[in-house]
Amino acid sequence: MLRDRLQRVLRDLRISVTDRCNFRCSYCMPHDDYEWSPREEILRYEEIARLAGIFVSLGVRRIHLTGGEPLLRHDLFRLVEMLALITELEDLSLTTNGTLLSVSRARELKRAGLKRVNVSLDSLRPERFRRMTRWGELGAVLSGIDAAREAGLQPIKLNMVVIRGVNDDEIVDLFEFARREGHQIRFIEYMDVGGAQEWSLERTVTRREILERLAAHVDFDREGRSRRDAPAREYPLADEGGRFGVVSSVSDPFCSGCSRGRLTADGRFVTCLFAHDGHDLRTPMREGRDDADLRQRIASTWSNRDDRYSEERLKAIASGRIGELPGQAKLRMIQLGG
Ligand code: GTP
Ligand code: 5AD
Ligand code: SF4
Ligand code: SF4
Repeated sequence: MLRDRLQRVLRDLRISVTDRCNFRCSYCMPHDDYEWSPREEILRYEEIARLAGIFVSLGVRRIHLTGGEPLLRHDLFRLVEMLALITELEDLSLTTNGTLLSVSRARELKRAGLKRVNVSLDSLRPERFRRMTRWGELGAVLSGIDAAREAGLQPIKLNMVVIRGVNDDEIVDLFEFARREGHQIRFIEYMDVGGAQEWSLERTVTRREILERLAAHVDFDREGRSRRDAPAREYPLADEGGRFGVVSSVSDPFCSGCSRGRLTADGRFVTCLFAHDGHDLRTPMREGRDDADLRQRIASTWSNRDDRYSEERLKAIASGRIGELPGQAKLRMIQLGG
């Protein structure tokens, strides 16, 4: 089995299908204009599916589609159909901002073989929601979440990026909303991803604080449980079937079990969310290299991987060197899809 320098396997592939988005979330996009990748640089569905097949031959078993906003790609169901043909895959999911998820679109994706969706939802207050996403309309997102349920794209996970002084007073409200609607909410520590220009450590609400606020409101198992290779730690509620999750990349990183590779929309293989660049697979693919050649490139990139940015950040925080961490050279969140 393929392992990196820290003995981690390659099990998950996050595929960004576009770097475009119809939102401009302040925690993801810089204020200044970002230039979208030109169309001819974006992989076609056939090219993505071919690479996905090669990744699966190297051990990938779960594929997660991301963006930008993945539903901005036309006929995304066609890509899902191609990926669903890969029999070794155990999971095929999508993270979206939800606005383009009509019932017919959600059904089309479900029919094509998509199993479930994660939807970003940072606030239940329309004006605040608009401020945070700059272009977003809360009502459209809530309709999108309903459409996903109607189409059976479940379980639905809701992602709330918690930012101090911005939306941290809504932790309990979002928890209650998810509980009422039967969805799983995940509270996400605000991270210094590329493009998050307003990030500061003070604005990150840590897992410990998130749990404290919820503990004042509801009983749950304070220990929680985590899967070694999943970002979210899950907390079962005491007297119901429900649970919520916390993604604590800042205060308690999970790099040691990180089995995630990323493919950018323009065909670069990236081995960490905080990487500066990736290995270009598009150029050799378009030059006509065969599968064995591409497989070798992916394998050697993964074998040489020693990324553990979030652990390094924690060390820098502990020793007061947070300012020395790499800043703007990082790939942008909008290119990597989380
Ligand atoms: P599930 O398979 O449904 O659990 O998806 P997920 O939580 O892996 O993916 P999602 O796109 O919903 O991302 C949730 C949050 O986790 C986002 O803020 C991501 O940026 C973050 N995240 C996902 N993978 C990683 C990772 O490898 N490292 C770090 N630091 N954060 C990650
Ligand atoms: N910190 C934490 N999570 C983020 N996301 C986007 N930017 C950040 C950030 N700076 C989340 C989005 C989306 C997921 C893919 O990544 O909310 O749900
Ligand atoms: Fe778009 Fe998602 Fe980034 Fe917001 S977080 S700008 S919805 S890609
Ligand atoms: Fe993996 Fe990089 Fe995230 Fe650590 S910071 S969990 S190595 S993607």
